[in-house]
Amino acid sequence: MTEEVDEGSPGLTLKTTGKLILRTWPYYRPQLKHVITFLLLNMFMGALLGGATFVGYDLLNNKVFLGKSLQPLQAVILGLDESYVQTGEPGDAGPGAGQAQENSGTESADVFLSDDQRRTVLYRMLVWGAVIGVMLMASLSGVYYYMVWIQQRINQHLRVTMLERAENLSLKFHDQAQTGDAIYRVYQDSATITNVLLELITRPMRMIATMLFLVVVLTFFSPWLGLLILIAVIPVSCMFLFFTPRIQRRSRQARASNSNLTSRIQSVFAAIKVIKANRSEGMVIEQFKLDSQLALDAAFHLRLENILLSTGVIILTVAILLLAEYLMAGWGIAEKATYLGGVVALVGFASWNLGAYQSASSSASEMTRHSRDLVNVWAAAQDLSVGLERAFYLLDQEPEVVEAEQTVGFPTPIRQVSWQETGFAYKTGQPVLKGVNLQAKAGSITAIVGTTGAGKSTLMSLLLRLYDPDSGSILVNDTNIRDLALADLRSNAAIALQQNVLFATTVAENIAYATQNASRADIEAAAAVACANTFVEEMPQGYDTELGERGGKLSTGQRQRLSIARAILRDTPVLILDEPTASLDARTEHEVLENLADWGKHRVVFLITHRLSTIRNADQIAFLEDGRIVEMGSHDELMKLGDGRYRRFVNAEVEGVVTAEGSES
Ligand SMILES: Nc1ncnc2c1ncn2[C@@H]1O[C@H](COP(=O)(O)OP(=O)(O)OP(=O)(O)O)[C@@H](O)[C@H]1O
Ligand SMILES: [Mg+2]
Repeated sequence: MTEEVDEGSPGLTLKTTGKLILRTWPYYRPQLKHVITFLLLNMFMGALLGGATFVGYDLLNNKVFLGKSLQPLQAVILGLDESYVQTGEPGDAGPGAGQAQENSGTESADVFLSDDQRRTVLYRMLVWGAVIGVMLMASLSGVYYYMVWIQQRINQHLRVTMLERAENLSLKFHDQAQTGDAIYRVYQDSATITNVLLELITRPMRMIATMLFLVVVLTFFSPWLGLLILIAVIPVSCMFLFFTPRIQRRSRQARASNSNLTSRIQSVFAAIKVIKANRSEGMVIEQFKLDSQLALDAAFHLRLENILLSTGVIILTVAILLLAEYLMAGWGIAEKATYLGGVVALVGFASWNLGAYQSASSSASEMTRHSRDLVNVWAAAQDLSVGLERAFYLLDQEPEVVEAEQTVGFPTPIRQVSWQETGFAYKTGQPVLKGVNLQAKAGSITAIVGTTGAGKSTLMSLLLRLYDPDSGSILVNDTNIRDLALADLRSNAAIALQQNVLFATTVAENIAYATQNASRADIEAAAAVACANTFVEEMPQGYDTELGERGGKLSTGQRQRLSIARAILRDTPVLILDEPTASLDARTEHEVLENLADWGKHRVVFLITHRLSTIRNADQIAFLEDGRIVEMGSHDELMKLGDGRYRRFVNAEVEGVVTAEGSES
């Protein structure tokens, strides 16, 4: 066995498991009606089966075999006449239960039914048996489906809640989280909730109750047996105490490695183009094999712990069983009196005879069997708790970007957007923005310029509150964006992202993705501003052309124009274009920007780009370097600065030197 790193969880105690179970209540509560109905149905069917078996047993033993008279109700049910029922002699007309017991002891009962009558009883009984059997089987499947239906509803509720939470978590969480892990939590770990009732509560309780009962029975035979079991409980408990955290750790590892595997699969499918283009299929398969092997190993180790525990428990209980058998056989030979035997109705054996030995012995071996089963139930319960813990972990994550309790409306009309001494770091100690000051007025286009990795996209993410700044503030007019409702803020700012995202649906629906009730005319107008109309109209079904997954079937420049159109259609007072024009040829880009200048008269427009011809036309240019805006002004103003950063950047561009060197040093 290899020792692997723990997952960092302190491990589940009875208390934390209890808390987990309590947390499932909100998901069970809406289904309570159904859960109770299900339990009642179950009990009813159990009673029916038990009753039928009992009556059948009585009919077969006492009536068919021994020829005793039927109870009046039995005759009615079987549709038999008076001649089957003994009237007049009250002594023989007791309830079936009494007779069944009497018969096991006394063979001398009078035969009342004729052979023919006994055969008739048998046939009718078999018919009833068949009818009840078929009915029970049919309703059993019904009840089973009902159970699955209830479970699915509970599970559905939890899953939806988890996904909602995941959506609300800030990007900082998603940046660090592995997609596969989140998928596994929502998809697999959440499923454990439906087993809580059965596997964590009912089954272990029933098991423990049965075992306690057996202990009592054995103690009635002899307190020595009880003492023996009590002594055995100590090492068995120690084994459980020792193995429980190990089993938990292993199942945590098993679930973690399976979620890694999910991540791996997910990333293979997401990057299939890159994999093929780089001919890295072989390498990917090797990595997959490795992950898959780790998952298998983890599952194996989990089973191994289970086996070790159950082996230990079996060895111990069998040893105790043998000792008990030895003692009991000895008592049997000596015909020793049983403890409390004969006093308590439960145990009819007054002294150790063969019957007493057999009865005690079967109780003892049943006890052994139960303790082995308990190991399995216990191990399954640990795995379930771990799954549940993983599922709730996602729900426990607090969104970092939280809405103010008192929110104000988005300021209209918009006059300006400003960053004031804004600082931000993705990882503490590695600031990306350090005291940024920037002001952008309505009706102007602000170009954000800077080397790659300078923090341009980050600056814009802060405006949408995808992240919150660590220091300073961002204002719309005079209102801090923290005081706005998140939905309000985001519905007033549209962004065309650097990595544009399209979906496998029609062109029109892709453009209208974030805008409800957009008319076809609106969609076409937005496409025209983004210069997307010409190529869309040339497509076979125009705006109704279906796009592939992630907008496959389109060139990068076409995709970019669709995502610009999407942002424009939203018709918001703030528009952010994060290099969405990078793949357009200079002329198309120029055209898009001219349209935008016209369209953006009363809006605040931000444009991130590396292309000089575009930058030059912006109303103001903000030059971002080392986490600060170091220069701000129009192209002409900035070019006048003797040894300005922007001027160096422009010269470098013009000379065709890669920006990095020119703008740093
Ligand atoms: N999600 C993230 N988690 C951690 N660090 C990040 C994250 N996104 C960006 N960074 C880091 O923050 C810095 C600024 O990134 P940002 O994307 O804002 O740069 P940029 O100016 O937009 O660059 P580019 O011109 O290449 O788009 C970079 O050093 C980058 O590595
Ligand atoms: Mg960027």
